[in-house]
Amino acid sequence: MRRDFYMPTRIVWGEDVLVHIGSFLRDLPVKNILVVTDPIIAGQPFFTETIARLSDDGFRISVFDECGIDARVAHIDEQAARCRRESISAIVSIGGGSVMCTGKGIAIVATNSESFREVTGVGNFQKEALPMVMVPTTAGSGSEVSQFTIVKDDERHLKLLGGGPLSFPTVAILDPVVLLSLPQRAATFSAIDALSHAIEAYLTDLSTPFTDAIALEAARLQMASMRGSILDSDAKARGNNLLASAMANIACGNARLGHAHALSLPLEGHLDLPHPLGVGSLVPWTFKFNAEVVPEKGTTFAQGLGVDIKGLSAAEAVDAAVDTIFELYDALGFPRHLSNEQLPRDRIPDMAKLAVPGMYGSTVPVVIDQTTVIASPSVRAMTVKHATEIYELASGR
Ligand SMILES: [Fe+2]
Repeated sequence: MRRDFYMPTRIVWGEDVLVHIGSFLRDLPVKNILVVTDPIIAGQPFFTETIARLSDDGFRISVFDECGIDARVAHIDEQAARCRRESISAIVSIGGGSVMCTGKGIAIVATNSESFREVTGVGNFQKEALPMVMVPTTAGSGSEVSQFTIVKDDERHLKLLGGGPLSFPTVAILDPVVLLSLPQRAATFSAIDALSHAIEAYLTDLSTPFTDAIALEAARLQMASMRGSILDSDAKARGNNLLASAMANIACGNARLGHAHALSLPLEGHLDLPHPLGVGSLVPWTFKFNAEVVPEKGTTFAQGLGVDIKGLSAAEAVDAAVDTIFELYDALGFPRHLSNEQLPRDRIPDMAKLAVPGMYGSTVPVVIDQTTVIASPSVRAMTVKHATEIYELASGR
């Protein structure tokens, strides 16, 4: 079988590397830039200093600072039209996952269509997206090294995925200084999402020795740096946390994401659950579910998470890994379970059926019953019945 590993994004990192942003843009080269951010980041000194520096460097800057908790189709379509109208030739995204996903959506639509709805799915557009420079202000989504963007369609209550080889960011600038502005809760949520990317990437049918090595090291770095980065604001830990979240996404960009992300999608689209809460509550259980069919990989990953596996069976090592993940949640104040308000019990059967299409644009079967398999590249096939059980576990029932 043919296998492939592709990651063309240039990654630069280190304390204060953001001050050199102009030199990366000059290399492209571009002149008119749209800077995408959210209202909170727009008020941070590092943001205003970056804009001033870019202006001094001779770039013409337009700013879109209305991103919210999710990337939205309406924002993307409107700003892509603005790019065409104003001859904007590059997008700089400074923010968390939703900001970077908005910037990527704009970059794709600006060169390919009138609306993001026309380019959803994997590789469903022909022209190279506008050049993108990404500055993540959370150590989480990994969107800065990913070809994909996840966008909320408010009209249809859906989360849409789009992207392909022509929509990788051009440059990712990982500067731990920008994480200082991040509230602890937001830092925790994004870090748990990043950990889930490493876990999911390790247990798919598309994983390779390349992605396994990156996912394992990402998880090890994350476990070693999250407490220091988030609770103590330790500078070295912040840097490692940023690197680890990018690594986790490089792994899942190639090996894809699995059941936890597939099952989280309907919770996000229909119940408005934040993405990290959905995936974070599901991933310990989907890890255990998958590891049952690949016990050696489960054990190796448990070891990567810091579990002392000496004398443990594979099943015990995986259980210990699940405990380790929950201990991390406790230390960071992340909930072990979803509440009944977040995932009402009577909605679970619906959610399990709505999870069937997965996140990569698979065709939905006409009839969905308890034996229908959720579309996901995870190593173990999950039926609607299994998904129901996983939702119950994630709800602490
Ligand atoms: Fe995620």
